[in-house]
Amino acid sequence: MKKITLLCLVLLSLYSCAEKKEKTPMQTNQEDELDKKWWKEAIVYQIYPRSFQDTDGDGVGDLKGIIERLDYVKSLGVTAVWLNPIYSSPNDDNGYDVSDYRDIMSDFGTMEDFDTMLAEMHARDIKLVMDIVVNHSSDEHPWFKESRSSRDNPYRDYYHWWPAEKGEPPYRYSLFDAEGNAWKYDEQTDAYYLHYFSQKQPDLNWENPKVRQEVYDIMKFWADKGVDGFRLDAFQFAAKDTTFPKFPDGFEKNFIQYYAVQEGLHDYLKEMNAEVFSKYDVMSVAEGAGRTLEEAHELVDADRNEINMAYAFDGVDIPKVDGYELATFKETFTKWDSAFAKKGWISIFLSNHDQARMVSRYANDSLPFRAPSAKMLNTFILSMRGTPYCYFGDELGMTNNPKLQEIEDFKDIAAINGYKKAQKQGEDMDEYMRNLRFGSRDHGRTPMQWDDSQNAGFTTGTPWLPLNPNYTTVNVQAEEENPQSVLNHFKKMTALRKNNEVLIYGDYELIQKEHKQVYAYTRSLDNQNMMVLLNFSDTEAAVGINDLHTYGDPLINNYDSFEKTGTSAVLKPYQAVILAKN
Ligand code: GLC
Repeated sequence: MKKITLLCLVLLSLYSCAEKKEKTPMQTNQEDELDKKWWKEAIVYQIYPRSFQDTDGDGVGDLKGIIERLDYVKSLGVTAVWLNPIYSSPNDDNGYDVSDYRDIMSDFGTMEDFDTMLAEMHARDIKLVMDIVVNHSSDEHPWFKESRSSRDNPYRDYYHWWPAEKGEPPYRYSLFDAEGNAWKYDEQTDAYYLHYFSQKQPDLNWENPKVRQEVYDIMKFWADKGVDGFRLDAFQFAAKDTTFPKFPDGFEKNFIQYYAVQEGLHDYLKEMNAEVFSKYDVMSVAEGAGRTLEEAHELVDADRNEINMAYAFDGVDIPKVDGYELATFKETFTKWDSAFAKKGWISIFLSNHDQARMVSRYANDSLPFRAPSAKMLNTFILSMRGTPYCYFGDELGMTNNPKLQEIEDFKDIAAINGYKKAQKQGEDMDEYMRNLRFGSRDHGRTPMQWDDSQNAGFTTGTPWLPLNPNYTTVNVQAEEENPQSVLNHFKKMTALRKNNEVLIYGDYELIQKEHKQVYAYTRSLDNQNMMVLLNFSDTEAAVGINDLHTYGDPLINNYDSFEKTGTSAVLKPYQAVILAKN
């Protein structure tokens, strides 16, 4: 408690301090009932630092660039920023391979830049969530260098090693390896090390209490600086059965069952909570929500003292290159909502740095539908129960980049090694490329589109990934000036959410379940009721809803008009409206 107060004073983190104020008796009842928390009310904006704003002309975004753009971030109405890893890294996986957890990647700037950035965020009441990558480190981290140097090195047990004299280790699937095997033979000590991701991302051994203590110390280092939360990267994979039993043939088709939330994980999270989370006013979110809804619950139920929220991949796994069924979308999000209706909390998102652009995957990125359909998706994200995570550029309706065509155009290790592996396994390479053009992570990583000047105002140098040619029209400057833009719609939505608790805490109910084009639901809290109508199709859609006449004019509408008579309405292609009950 003392520490928090001190931090508040030192860093002028007024938002956090305000939270510690005494509640009025009325607030107490309501808050206890709703279990109100700042992180439930937060609107998170995810910044991929490599691609946001470059200030030194090297074609790579940097922290100074983020600082320059904080007024823009504030203008969006978001309340927190999640920053992808900014630690020292050889960039095998763009910062998800950390070589020093207490230093800033030279491409991005210095610790001084970081301190300024954090202070400037706090001065604007924006919280900062850091990405913590501790399922693995870089192979260039000093721990791994020591660990691989000899079998009796004190750091040997920081990682998973399998001595060659025991024969080949039982096969483990690697998500990023061109060969597919997560064990890599290392000559130096005649042993294999484990890497669930790339060969340059060896997995840390969480069974070793020293490793765990190192991680907590790192987290405290950042929490002491005043950061407001942590996103635990790939953490559901951290616990492993270190006897490494043989898994059934073909297990990799269903590897989550064998990799996620293995025995020990809950204990590690409880310990992390006791050591770190409980000592600061920080939020915690894990990538991956386990194998079942029950498991997801166990991670986030407040009385278990593990983490605040997790995010599952069910939602982002829906779109496929040949389309998807709206029914699956509705079912998925409804299922997750109901599982957490009484207890626990979830994250709502349709894209991030591991996905292609949401408007290209879930909706329609061609004219004239790009703008209305991007607005429709933002309306969805910002009107659901759960903490919304909005990915940079989606507030503009940025799309997949047609410049990413051939394998040489892609930079992502997952794409490049995946290609090699597919080739080796004799897969249909046309099919592979079709999927990549649709779903590659690089689409979500092309630079932010600020204006219509050269390189969209992102850099004066050569951008590390090509700008999407549509930046001449899809950019911040143009959209700020256009009252009908995706950007201005986004701002209306953040304002609506922040001013209406019903959109944060209210019950969610799916209506029009069988409708093929429209996703419709209500949100209710005490006597406040809202109805959200989203046409996910490129044609008009009629709806008949018994109590529609009891709702007023739209609070949100991505078109100029809304056709409603009595209990029926006709939604235009991708029309999104939010109505409040009279
Ligand atoms: C997570 C990150 C992803 C990264 C991987 C390995 O899935 O979101 O970007 O490649 O972990 O760290």
